[in-house]
Amino acid sequence: MKESRIIVKTKNKNYPIIIGENILSKTGNLINTQIPNCKKIALIIDSRVPKKILVQVKNSIKNFNSLYIKLNANEKIKNFGTVSKLINKLLKKKFNRNDCLIALGGGVLGDIVALTANLVKRGIKFINVPTTLLSQVDSSIGGKTGVNSGYGKNLIGTFYQPEMVISDTTVLNSLPKKEMVCGYAEILKHALILDKKFFFWLQKNGEKIINLNNKIVIQKAIHKSCKIKARIVKKDETEKDLRMILNFGHTFGHAFEATANFSNKINHGESVLLGMLCAAEFAFRNKILKSKDFNLIKEHYSVLNLPNKISDYFTKKDLKNIIQFMKSDKKKTDSKIKLILISKIGKTLKSRGLRDSILKNYLNTKLF
Ligand SMILES: NC(=O)c1ccc[n+]([C@@H]2O[C@H](COP(=O)([O-])OP(=O)(O)OC[C@H]3O[C@@H](n4cnc5c(N)ncnc54)[C@H](O)[C@@H]3O)[C@@H](O)[C@H]2O)c1
Repeated sequence: MKESRIIVKTKNKNYPIIIGENILSKTGNLINTQIPNCKKIALIIDSRVPKKILVQVKNSIKNFNSLYIKLNANEKIKNFGTVSKLINKLLKKKFNRNDCLIALGGGVLGDIVALTANLVKRGIKFINVPTTLLSQVDSSIGGKTGVNSGYGKNLIGTFYQPEMVISDTTVLNSLPKKEMVCGYAEILKHALILDKKFFFWLQKNGEKIINLNNKIVIQKAIHKSCKIKARIVKKDETEKDLRMILNFGHTFGHAFEATANFSNKINHGESVLLGMLCAAEFAFRNKILKSKDFNLIKEHYSVLNLPNKISDYFTKKDLKNIIQFMKSDKKKTDSKIKLILISKIGKTLKSRGLRDSILKNYLNTKLF
């Protein structure tokens, strides 16, 4: 399939997302066009990215003065300590604002590297080369940088847009199915919040995406997801209003991840999948979402065998922590919890501020 491009338009910068098969060998040429004064490159690599992919990128940037740093990317190293170490390495090598930092990895690595790029000399160039489905359909777009703190997930961060995003679908070949499911969570989110037609398309093609057995379908799903997110980011880059709808399922989801102490017990995408189902069910029980649409969502989870039971991961003993983390979610502005809900597939609304007890009562019915 031919490569496709989407331009993300923001106040200060427009930048391309390039999506296609076997396009990483063009990285060097794309940098020459996009950042003509770039001399030095630091390529930060997730250590799980296959050697073949790494070699492709390294070969294509061989004419630059390059520095390679491998990180064992996971939520536990997604902290300010890692950012600080990276900053020191770049300062030691005298990187300046025209030089470039490339993230070759998933959402964890991308978020860390983007924040680093933003902080070095108040902003050096940044290119995101996402290597997980989740990062290709979501985290690489829109300029949110971030790291975790002991108080919760992604509580430290900035908005900093990349110079470009290069999404090569071949990098997904080595991704475990569990990670494909995680990426699917965000694709599904985009459909549930804004595009019912896309949801119907996912009903037909979801399995092909998760099993990675049709490259045309995968590229289409990535393209469509990026387009939806780019549209939202264009209207509300810094999450003052509209962009908040992207947090559908995430207030629950982030609390699940934090309660599990960012361990292997449950990862980001699984947490988001559970979180979206909770948000949908909460809306249904409060007569906001009609049973017809709620049933379609439930059925989709069941057909694709997506995580759908919080009790598979948590017990009643975890309830206090879950609520506590929901309360410390960064989108909150007062002591009450506000949720993004859906009133039908493709249409969101913001809940009023909810008392803890309301959410406690709801979650109590889901845990044993
Ligand atoms: N900035 C944003 O707007 C935004 C949006 C959504 C999520 N996020 C963040 O993204 C993170 C989740 O991203 P993720 O799901 O990509 O997780 P991740 O970066 O942890 O990657 C998942 C796993 O896949 C491995 N991996 C990466 N590329 C691979 C490849 N090609 N082959 C084999 N293994 C590979 C990683 O090492 C890791 O073990 C979370 O920290 C979340 O907060 C950010």
